[in-house]
Amino acid sequence: MSTSNLFRPIKFGDITLKHRVALAPLTRLRVDENHVPLPIVKEMYAQRASAPGTLLITEATLIDARAGGNAHTPGIWSDEQIAAWKKVTSAVHAKGSFIYFSGL
Ligand SMILES: Cc1cc2nc3c(=O)[nH]c(=O)nc-3n(C[C@H](O)[C@H](O)[C@H](O)COP(=O)(O)O)c2cc1C
Repeated sequence: MSTSNLFRPIKFGDITLKHRVALAPLTRLRVDENHVPLPIVKEMYAQRASAPGTLLITEATLIDARAGGNAHTPGIWSDEQIAAWKKVTSAVHAKGSFIYFSGL
């Protein structure tokens, strides 16, 4: 019996994914008034990373206050935002998965 390609590994840049099901960018607006991700963001991405070798792409994340976007869009320009995102990426890496940022 043949196995679907969906569940076969694939090389993607310098990483090897264990399957081809990825998390697409999904806005959740789970940040505080300073665009800092709330603890639930780490929980959400860690859950989606549960199958080792999974590729996650973050929700669109502001690279600067001047980038605009909506209120409660996550940011990645302040130390506080970066510290919160590091908790997210560490939780994903701890599951053996990968996370890329999509930025605005
Ligand atoms: C670079 C990039 C960033 C995106 N950011 C978001 C986002 O922040 N929030 C969102 O709801 N959708 C975002 N999207 C769109 C969804 O990921 C998209 O709807 C999903 O991939 C399904 O594709 P489809 O709409 O063509 O069916 C983004 C897409 C791309 C390519």
